[in-house]
Amino acid sequence: MRHRYERGKTDRTLVLFHGTGGSMDDLVGIAKVLDSSAHVIALEGDVDEHGMKRFFKRIRPGVFDEQDLIERTHALDDTLKALAKKYEVPVLKMVLVGYSNGANIISSYLSLFGKKVAGALLFQPMLPFRDTVFEDLEGLPVFMSASENDPIVPLSQSTALIDAYKKAHAKIQPYWHKDGHSLSNVTIEKAVHFFQTHWA
Ligand code: MLT
Repeated sequence: MRHRYERGKTDRTLVLFHGTGGSMDDLVGIAKVLDSSAHVIALEGDVDEHGMKRFFKRIRPGVFDEQDLIERTHALDDTLKALAKKYEVPVLKMVLVGYSNGANIISSYLSLFGKKVAGALLFQPMLPFRDTVFEDLEGLPVFMSASENDPIVPLSQSTALIDAYKKAHAKIQPYWHKDGHSLSNVTIEKAVHFFQTHWA
């Protein structure tokens, strides 16, 4: 998986996952606002869907290739471990930050690998699996933006994902807005507030 790395001054690392058609550069500006002293690892998805980068394959919009997602989530785990070793940054101090398709592979990672990282910020995620279950995420801070009028994510999926995190006892904080599938400045402000509450 291609990536970009910027050294920080603390032991925290923000790992960034772009949305469909994005690139590793997309969320770097947001990372700086979240924590200008953290290391940054910005990943780029390996899947090429008609020229658009993604982190896993889909059968059609909104319907995921779950086998591919499982395999690529295992590859992501290997990537995180390898990058942790290369840059001498602990996986346990990583906060995963993703938008849309990037947020979906983060939920898949938390579902398959549990509490191996410090937490997650999810912007406009969907359910990664038709039957998404998290094991014990006790106390894991997770911020999630969701919209009542998202043309891509059905409201029922947002509430089901929030419920799944609650069931696993994650410290899930939803932020509901009316900005559709977009990532607005207000959403970023809310995420910064959440971040500072947990990791400042
Ligand atoms: C996906 O993973 O397919 C998304 O949630 C929707 C998108 O990225 O366009």
